[in-house]
Amino acid sequence: MFTRLVQLGITSSEKFHRQWGATMITVSVCLGSACHLKGANGVLEAFLALIEKHQAQASVQMAGNFCQGRCTEGVVVQIDDHLLTNVTRDQVHEIFLKYILKIGDKT
Ligand code: FES
Repeated sequence: MFTRLVQLGITSSEKFHRQWGATMITVSVCLGSACHLKGANGVLEAFLALIEKHQAQASVQMAGNFCQGRCTEGVVVQIDDHLLTNVTRDQVHEIFLKYILKIGDKT
């Protein structure tokens, strides 16, 4: 969808909402101690950088969670109803494309 917006010259989040009737997406990164040790801060920073890059501030709400009870599977990220485990900073771009920009398959 974002690619289409760029092709149309529509890149601001306000225009995004107006054009596509987009709803707010919530991304929650577990900031519990186990996930913190596995790189939760880097994952969070990568999401924030992509939100800024794509001017998606009005479409994406970031949140931090306490322990999700899946410490051995950290870093744990929840995007609306999708729970993702073993997330690394390097995977954030692909996740952002699939779950935020809705480009590609969700597996
Ligand atoms: S610290 Fe993240 S699931 Fe427990």
